[in-house]
Amino acid sequence: MAKISVIGAGMTGSTTAHWLAEREIADIVLVDIMEGMPQGKALDMTQAMPIIGKDVMILGSNDYADTKDSDIVVITAGLPRKPGMTREDLLVKNANIVGSVAEETIKYSPNAIYLILTNPLDTMTYMTMMKTGLPANKIIGQAGILDSARMSAFIAMETGVSVQNINCYVLGGHGDSMVPLTRHSNIAGVPLEKYLDADKLEAIVQRTRKGGGEIVGLLKTGSAFYAPSAAIAQMAEAILKDKKLIVPCAAYLNGEYGQKGIFFGVPVMLGKGGVEKIIEYDLNEDEKTALQNSADAVAKSVEELKGLVEL
Ligand code: APR
Repeated sequence: MAKISVIGAGMTGSTTAHWLAEREIADIVLVDIMEGMPQGKALDMTQAMPIIGKDVMILGSNDYADTKDSDIVVITAGLPRKPGMTREDLLVKNANIVGSVAEETIKYSPNAIYLILTNPLDTMTYMTMMKTGLPANKIIGQAGILDSARMSAFIAMETGVSVQNINCYVLGGHGDSMVPLTRHSNIAGVPLEKYLDADKLEAIVQRTRKGGGEIVGLLKTGSAFYAPSAAIAQMAEAILKDKKLIVPCAAYLNGEYGQKGIFFGVPVMLGKGGVEKIIEYDLNEDEKTALQNSADAVAKSVEELKGLVEL
């Protein structure tokens, strides 16, 4: 059995473990700084396994030694966004947490692939690359699957069509500048405009951009966790099963889409090597401009990170 360590056993971390166990693809180690909490959640989940019929070992721990030889390390440790807080407000606090988690875990799992969930996502992936020293293809940020799934869910709610027929692609940074690509999205191969008038579609695009904030506003004490963690489980399965799955993720760009030196949401092929390929879409001038604006916002926050914490 493969091994996945999930660092941070809070809302997103424990829900990630839950979705992973459902998929029965790896044994799971859940690590947190809070004593007893990961152990309690792991034991509770272990006791659910006979009910759902999955043979998965789930260990809770406060000790990084238990993560030894993980195939995948998922980082969710950090503070969640509170109402009124932007993702960037979290930058310094979470950068220090993610930096220390990266340094600790890489000692025990030098061959792992890292999946990052902690926000601000585009900079936390960068931090992980710097602190682990791993090649960029082994560091992948979760954002695009979630943002695309939010858009798909809103379209399903509006049209009544099965979510399985709805294909949406949201690229760019994981912030308000993200770029929902309506021209590349479709319902069973039919353009979205055939199902939705322009106003409805624009409202869905705007709601997608603010999808995370909408949930923070409702929950009041934290941020979304079911959908972000479901996305991590999909990524982990694609990697462990070497599926060559094409999904939007935050990947390190080296000239693709005209960008260099940032993690940015683009379609990637996921397989046993992590990011095995970056897929480049043909974009029109409006789409290119929107992506450039989003890339500028991400590059700015990476520069900010470099000024605030030691890399
Ligand atoms: N090492 C391990 N765990 C840590 C550390 C650390 N250095 N610092 C904090 N944690 C743990 C906390 O104890 C907590 O249990 O991280 C967990 C975070 O869980 P929640 O507070 O429930 O937050 P969550 O909703 O999971 O969000 C975590 O993921 O989606 C992003 O924006 C979100 O950045 C946030 C992160």
